[in-house]
Amino acid sequence: MAEVKILDKVFATSISEEKLLSAIDTAAQKINTDLDGRNPLFLCILNGAFMFAADLMKRISIPCQISFVKIASYQGTQTTGKVKSLIGLNEDLTGRTVVLLEDIVDTGITMKALVEQVRTAGANDVRIATMLFKPEACCPEVKPDYIGLNIPNDFIVGHGLDYDGYGRNLRDIYTLKQ
Ligand code: IMP
Ligand code: MG
Repeated sequence: MAEVKILDKVFATSISEEKLLSAIDTAAQKINTDLDGRNPLFLCILNGAFMFAADLMKRISIPCQISFVKIASYQGTQTTGKVKSLIGLNEDLTGRTVVLLEDIVDTGITMKALVEQVRTAGANDVRIATMLFKPEACCPEVKPDYIGLNIPNDFIVGHGLDYDGYGRNLRDIYTLKQ
């Protein structure tokens, strides 16, 4: 098992790139079938989803568009929780089928907020495609439509996912060693 040290922590390989790509292929085929004739707009949530978006899009064979957005988190004025909003969105979403591309859905808080914003912006159908899903961590209201792989509730890096900005370039997924 390969290990990698990032800053102060040690991570060990947990999912090979080969297994990841095979899972992404399966998800892409499902999207090709489900969204044929729907002219979907894929929205890649930067930074983490850049590698997943590239791998997935190479396997999408139906007419579609892709755009890239970021999430801005700031303290709400009324609540103590962080407000998450989508920035950099230039497309008109009216009546569109939108597929949010995320690296990982953990608690689901981010996706819940973004789905609501995309609906408010006029999208007709909003779906979530995530490379990885932590079912044990996720809230019941968020159910990704397309999931690459389900993973345990551990901290991971690689294939776009980072620890303090590092590790995004790793091809495989690595799990934090206890
Ligand atoms: P959520 O709102 O809790 O679902 O958070 C999702 C975001 O947290 C993802 O887009 C990631 O950026 C980050 N995240 C969640 N779990 C991990 C992890 O294990 N490693 C690295 N980033 C993670
Ligand atoms: Mg992310």
